[in-house]
Amino acid sequence: MKMQAKGRQWPDLQGEMLDRGRDDAKWRDGRTAVYVFNAGEDIAEVQRQAYTAYMSENGLGPAAFPSLAQMEKEVVAMGLGLLHGPDGAVGAMTSGGTDSITMAIKAARDYARAERATDAQANIVLPRSAHLAFDKACHLMDIEVRRVPLRDDGSFQADVPAMALACDRDTIMMVGSAPNFPHGIIDPIEALSAHAVASNIWLHVDACVGGYFAPFARINGVPVPAFDFELPGVSSISADLHKYGYAAKGASTVLFRSDALYQHMPFDMAQWSGAPMKTPTLAGTRPGGAISSAWAVMNYLGVEGYCRLQVQVCETREKVARRVTELGFEVLGDPILGLIAFRHPEQHAYAIYGELYRRGWFTSVTKEPPSLHLMLSPKHADFIDEYLEDLALCLAAVASGKASPVKTSSLRYS
Ligand SMILES: Cc1ncc(COP(=O)(O)O)c(C=O)c1O
Repeated sequence: MKMQAKGRQWPDLQGEMLDRGRDDAKWRDGRTAVYVFNAGEDIAEVQRQAYTAYMSENGLGPAAFPSLAQMEKEVVAMGLGLLHGPDGAVGAMTSGGTDSITMAIKAARDYARAERATDAQANIVLPRSAHLAFDKACHLMDIEVRRVPLRDDGSFQADVPAMALACDRDTIMMVGSAPNFPHGIIDPIEALSAHAVASNIWLHVDACVGGYFAPFARINGVPVPAFDFELPGVSSISADLHKYGYAAKGASTVLFRSDALYQHMPFDMAQWSGAPMKTPTLAGTRPGGAISSAWAVMNYLGVEGYCRLQVQVCETREKVARRVTELGFEVLGDPILGLIAFRHPEQHAYAIYGELYRRGWFTSVTKEPPSLHLMLSPKHADFIDEYLEDLALCLAAVASGKASPVKTSSLRYS
């Protein structure tokens, strides 16, 4: 496609652009349970207005935009406050979970190099269920990834003794998730922390999904086990604002127990023709809107607002768990946050997924074991009955052999 010789009028473009979204997943109607976190129109409006207010400003220049620098500082401080950051704990905003994870690994690697003065091939040890962002980051940095099978007791949790056995003197990081994406289960972070302390290994908690959800669940009385800096072995945490923080996309936090650990994250360089530059995270230019929108949504909701939304999400998850159990599904493990995965003993999850997809539900699947997967938003409370009715119909269609075969290609997500 060639660029047009002449520009077009905005109203014309706007119409075409909106029209192009016609066949997209219908997330506003609650028909997606992946990719989008829908907390309602008022929050979306705060996101939009706050984003556009700083859309052109650049977080790369804290001296030019002290407003953004201060907002980032306050966002990070709120994150550390929620996640029991001790005195001296620090962090930064990044563009997302993958960025936060990459930067935590970079910091752990450089910390190990500085502390241990070794050139040996570094490795990280993580449960099978941890997000693939760890593999991507390790691929970039040429770090070995040691994935360890989960416990085989149906808990879908990390097997801590097996992970401990997989560690050696070149292990620069162990990982636990709070929760993991495939099953929505929190790993035994306390046991991981104990091993991290005993072996002097950096423990990273991937709370990209739970970081801005689990603290409010706990305030509301959900028995969330300790998973954050409250545990002495936790060195760093990734916690996404563009997930259950309900901020506009492009916003996450990466947090460190101390400045001594954090200092291994920024990239500081003067050996080129341009001005010396120090960047805290992977990005150079950092969209000001991602920072301002996160700051605005956090302040708009406050603890009270997040607690209210947490109840809404967990009530929806409980409703799903009850109904799918009645339908003969088995919920994987014991999810307590906003994610749930469930499988059927007789009917294949992907066949049911295919039927749901044909009815306009864009949800997700888990591969090990093949299961249906939902990452619930507050707004799902309004649509979940419809989903559950369709789920029952789809299950019946698959059970009666009337469902058309599912193409595995339709199970890819990008
Ligand atoms: C547990 C977990 N960690 C990390 C990520 C990566 O986050 P992002 O897609 O923002 O890079 C995700 C994404 O869903 C996740 O669920």
